Amino acid sequence: MLVLGIESSCDETAAALVEDGRAVHSNVVASQIETHRRFGGVVPELASREHLRNIGYVVWRAFREAGKQYSEIDGIAVTQGPGLIGSLLVGLNFAKAMAYSLKKPLVPVNHIEGHICSAFIEHPAVEYPLLALVVSGGHTSLIFSPEPEVYQSIGRARDDAAGEALDKLSKFLGLGYPGGPIIDRLAQRGDPRAFSFSIPKISDGSLDFSFSGFKTAALRHIEKSAIKPRRRPGAKIPQKVVDLVASYQQAIVDTLVRQTARAAESVRPRSILLVGGVACNSLLRRTFTEAFEVSQTGAGAGSSARKISVYFPKPSLTTDNAAMIAAAGTPKLRRGLPVRLDLNAYADLRLC
Ligand code: KG4
Ligand code: ZN
Repeated sequence: MLVLGIESSCDETAAALVEDGRAVHSNVVASQIETHRRFGGVVPELASREHLRNIGYVVWRAFREAGKQYSEIDGIAVTQGPGLIGSLLVGLNFAKAMAYSLKKPLVPVNHIEGHICSAFIEHPAVEYPLLALVVSGGHTSLIFSPEPEVYQSIGRARDDAAGEALDKLSKFLGLGYPGGPIIDRLAQRGDPRAFSFSIPKISDGSLDFSFSGFKTAALRHIEKSAIKPRRRPGAKIPQKVVDLVASYQQAIVDTLVRQTARAAESVRPRSILLVGGVACNSLLRRTFTEAFEVSQTGAGAGSSARKISVYFPKPSLTTDNAAMIAAAGTPKLRRGLPVRLDLNAYADLRLC
């Protein structure tokens, strides 16, 4: 089954052709980073306009790179939410128009389910039950999935998402946009123990996340150490700034790993997925593998060792893309859900 995926929930206009949810024939992404860089974050109105400008070309390009005709697809999967409403509507309406004119079925996909399914594209052997940590600019969620397409939310961000926390510190220090990859690179030559960030205890014992305390602690360190934001791109970055971002990143990674470990203890998954843009982070990937990809001895004498496998997609499938939307939509299209041209987009669409 050949599926066209369309994704436009934030600042990436994306289209992909994927066969049977696995073979990626094309995966085209038009990034808007340059448009939003001077504002230090995504400007929703500009994002919608950029999507409108790019969507036709991006979809055309996905077919051209795959060497396929429009008539060859079996269906279309499109992101319905969550995301920026103006951005979502561009992709959704484009998908509806295509479905109508080509007389092809159309299914809506939750962006978070897309991120989870991004791991199945290269790893068909992922075993259930699984635990997914979805970490991106807009989301930090722990989701338990006992079987395909069944999801239970077991932890979520109470304030800033992990990516947002990285982006905000980078913006404040004048290091550039988006902050995640910049901090990832810089931190490699910093001392992660130079500044202290105490990991907050969430007193009700929940598996939620809170990163806003790290932001306040970072501001205190900045003030105490008389750190000045960088004024000019390309200016030398002092070692204490490098150490600060390394310590901040370490605290965020430690929090993500600690909550995932607690969740894994309670739901006992066979697989752990690390997905979403922040899953590109090299320290997070390394720490996750070290923490989880070991044989875990079950409780009680004589019980057999239990191995948890950790999966993370390659970077082009980790940050926002449409291949993951096509992969998530494929089983829904297979079930032959009716074509719904009255579909709407929802900024706060929930997965579970
Ligand atoms: O999944 P994504 O492309 O979009 C959303 O759904 O939000 O994630 C974007 C986020 C941004 O916050 C960006 O800074 C972060 O992912 N990111 C990273 C890295 N690459 C992207 N964060 C940490 N380390 C990276 N290498
Ligand atoms: Zn995303």
